[in-house]
Amino acid sequence: MNEKIVLITGATDGIGKYAAMALAKMGYHIILHGRNREKILATASTIQNSVPGCNIDWVEADFESLPAIKKMSQELHEKYDRIDVLVNNVGAQFHELRFADEGVEVGFAVNHIAPFLLTSSIIDLLLKSECRRIINVSSEMHRNMQYFHFDYIYGKEAYSLYDYYSNTKLANLLFSYKLSRVLEGKGFTVLAITPGLTDTHLNPQRTPELVQRAVPVELGAVSMIEAVTSPSLQGKNAIFLDKDAQVEPTSSASYDIEQQDKLWDMTEKLLGMKFTVL
Ligand SMILES: NC(=O)c1ccc[n+]([C@@H]2O[C@H](COP(=O)([O-])OP(=O)(O)OC[C@H]3O[C@@H](n4cnc5c(N)ncnc54)[C@H](OP(=O)(O)O)[C@@H]3O)[C@@H](O)[C@H]2O)c1
Repeated sequence: MNEKIVLITGATDGIGKYAAMALAKMGYHIILHGRNREKILATASTIQNSVPGCNIDWVEADFESLPAIKKMSQELHEKYDRIDVLVNNVGAQFHELRFADEGVEVGFAVNHIAPFLLTSSIIDLLLKSECRRIINVSSEMHRNMQYFHFDYIYGKEAYSLYDYYSNTKLANLLFSYKLSRVLEGKGFTVLAITPGLTDTHLNPQRTPELVQRAVPVELGAVSMIEAVTSPSLQGKNAIFLDKDAQVEPTSSASYDIEQQDKLWDMTEKLLGMKFTVL
């Protein structure tokens, strides 16, 4: 029995849900995260029915809400004295420009601010594990951006779903690479991954063309499952796994240290906190 505790955000649908089931079958203790209580309970019960005796727990938080993420972190601290693996998987696309409570564009809030806050809030629980693995789910779409558009954070440029979403997927890499530097020497493994184009509910406009090009979730989850389970990745940092779980270089914009630092500092400022690792 594998005793590792894995928290997967956005585990009520798509790639996260598939990976949760697959990892439960391998004996991992899974903490499902979702925003919709009914979907969370249904997912937990589907997994329990398929894997009798598995360890499944859940937490709930809408990633558009900072107080909800803080409450989720508090609950995790009440229940757990360590978490071995955090998979920052939640990702969303938005058809219209909209703003989250803290005044930033909602895609940036859900895809970047939320995982930053969650990671920082439970870094002490990860530090208590020997595994200390953090997996950030990005996308090949980060390559659409020549540089990170800070203007998008406040919706200052014309809205396009693909540009704004791609910008957040670049943010996932800037975050992941900076996090690797911040945690250097502390025994962490920080990986970024892409599932590749996968047939999920991410883009509600599932055109026949998109469905035809996309792979099913069992293939989309390959890199995530490998990132969680592979012993050979232990201690690796600032790397990106492609859809086949092969190490692949990312865009030059993602390696820009100045942009990584700027985004990190700006995020801390927005949240009014410092990412502290004791
Ligand atoms: N699918 C692709 O082709 C593809 C390609 C590259 C990268 N990715 C990345 O892969 C990750 C997973 O995407 P997916 O394709 O599996 O998408 P999905 O099927 O839409 O699943 C997304 C998960 O995130 C949750 N979520 C969305 N917004 C949330 C919010 N505001 N608060 C809390 N949870 C929220 C969803 O909850 P509900 O169940 O309540 O909706 C669901 O559990 C994302 O980071 C995405 O950017 C996907």
